[in-house]
Amino acid sequence: MQRTSLVVVTNRLPFDETVPVEGAYDWQRSAGVLIEPRHAALQGAPVTWVGWTGRTGPAPSLPPTDGVRALPVPLTDEDFRNHYEGFANATLWPLYHDAVEQPAHHRRWWDAYQRVNRRFAEITAEAAGPGAMVWVQDYHLQLVPAMLRELRPDLVIGFFLHVPFPPPELFMRLPRRAEVLRGILGADLVGFQRERSAHNFTQAVGEALNLPSSGDGATASVDVGGRRVRTGVFPVSIDVTAIEALADSPAVAARATQVRRDLGDPRTVLLSVDRMDYTKGIEHRLKAFRELVADGAVKPAETVFVQVTVPSRERVEHYDILRERVEREVGRINGDHGRVGSAAIHYLSRPLERVELAALYRAADVMLVTPLRDGMNLVAKEFVAARGDGGGALVLSEFAGAAAELRDAWQVNPHDIDGLKDTLIRAIDAPESEARRRMSALRAQVRAHDVRSWADNYLSSLLLP
Ligand code: G6P
Repeated sequence: MQRTSLVVVTNRLPFDETVPVEGAYDWQRSAGVLIEPRHAALQGAPVTWVGWTGRTGPAPSLPPTDGVRALPVPLTDEDFRNHYEGFANATLWPLYHDAVEQPAHHRRWWDAYQRVNRRFAEITAEAAGPGAMVWVQDYHLQLVPAMLRELRPDLVIGFFLHVPFPPPELFMRLPRRAEVLRGILGADLVGFQRERSAHNFTQAVGEALNLPSSGDGATASVDVGGRRVRTGVFPVSIDVTAIEALADSPAVAARATQVRRDLGDPRTVLLSVDRMDYTKGIEHRLKAFRELVADGAVKPAETVFVQVTVPSRERVEHYDILRERVEREVGRINGDHGRVGSAAIHYLSRPLERVELAALYRAADVMLVTPLRDGMNLVAKEFVAARGDGGGALVLSEFAGAAAELRDAWQVNPHDIDGLKDTLIRAIDAPESEARRRMSALRAQVRAHDVRSWADNYLSSLLLP
């Protein structure tokens, strides 16, 4: 069945009024405007994107970008505090990431979550053409599918969760667990990054709502009052062609050479790029590096570590504390092991321009992506896409969604500091033939599954009867 239009609904718009795209640390910025009319399932049908600009106050009006009409949703300061910082990022975010920090529960946050979800649903209901497809994304908006179905039963509604869906033992802590599940079940198709999340979701639906599901863990279906809701697994990806083109450009090559020179032409450059988030395992990684330097297994003059962190959710307490701890640890490593003119660790705490980021990817010998839990982690995929030269090694946490696809990375358990140290040394010392074999397998995997195929697969599955 051909649909007349698509409405994508996300907490943040993938573009905003003035700020240029800086570094693809997050799925909106990577996947962003690539959900577009060109998708096979859309056959050129128009795309509208409903989301928040990132600033509170009245919504501005935005011009269309790449053929996509942007419809901003206004958030007040209070919505920002209680919906975004509160329920989304201090209750759901830690709960869905293995509770690596303690989730907080406040009833006023839940009120704001409902209110903001309703606003998104109403704006979407107004914007969607008759029989349109609507694709709601991520943990900020889990109530939107059911609210939207009530307002507009003619729509085909999809939901995709970019973060992990936690095991029922954790999910069941949520005071409003039943409402959240019923909200998601307003969709026709519920998509996840990994099979385990899909499985956790159907189990939670069984336990909290007493609704059985049929099928296997990944592609199941649940009968919700006579309506069939399907689940599926669709690992999100990146714009491989754009990153390859950027990373292969002369500007990036020149900058990568300069970066290595500025670092003192060391034998090995280690690199990490993360949003400043406690789920990313930054402290564990710094500890492993400090011990390697202290043990003498790694010599600061030969091996330098570049850690880039992008400030994030800075007014949420856990984030503030994390930043202080990371900066203290970086200071300690440099204080103990750096020398005048040569730091053991180079720490940048700001977003980078895309050319600079691509140059770092190209300059690195070993990329460390070691989150404690991550829905996907697109930095890992970007690094692989940027290595058109076939060089570089990827050390990857088994708890990143990307680990299911990037089998040829050096996989680690980031909680195991000794294992992290051993794996890092193995990646540094690997024979070139092995490193190249691994990178070539990783590249084949990433190139065959880019963000366009992700959206195509999801949307064509959404349209299945
Ligand atoms: C993750 C989430 C996104 C979110 C992003 C950045 O990737 O899945 O939905 O937008 O982090 O976080 P922020 O709070 O800055 O939107």
